[in-house]
Amino acid sequence: MTTPTERRDFLRGLLAAGAGGLAALAPAGAGLHVFLDPLRRSGAGADFVRVTGLAALPADGIPRRFTVRTDQVNAWNRRADVPVGAVYLRRTDETEIQALHVVCPHAGCLVDYAPAKDGFLCPCHNSTFALDGTINDPKSPSPRGLDRLDVEIRNDTEVWVRFQNFRVGAKEKVPA
Ligand code: FES
Repeated sequence: MTTPTERRDFLRGLLAAGAGGLAALAPAGAGLHVFLDPLRRSGAGADFVRVTGLAALPADGIPRRFTVRTDQVNAWNRRADVPVGAVYLRRTDETEIQALHVVCPHAGCLVDYAPAKDGFLCPCHNSTFALDGTINDPKSPSPRGLDRLDVEIRNDTEVWVRFQNFRVGAKEKVPA
């Protein structure tokens, strides 16, 4: 049979052991947090990416193709300046830029600028698109026009595009 004093000492010892255990777990928790930190920073959404300088786009309104490069972050690595796609950019007036994705919405081929058609041609199944990306031939198999991307002129000299991919084969423009 235990005395009240013995029971009090036992409970004190139990509390002290619990507190010590929590203190030991704290650094481990901090280490886990640092270890998993890259996971928290991965999963970037559709961010604006600097694509080119404004001077690279003449006032003639002819589309120019540019590779889009960005830094890629996965769970534990960061790779700088990785090509992730391409866009056609053209000036539609002094301060307006149009950005179109180069991927054909039909089945994912890359469209070419076709000066003779004053627009774009997909070499895979002959979808044709006007300069603004709309389908200009009802026989085109593409279910929608070329995908427009948000574009901004920053610092009066830089062209930034919100680059993202969209599902092919769908009538609606849905992020992939
Ligand atoms: S992939 Fe472009 S028309 Fe089929």
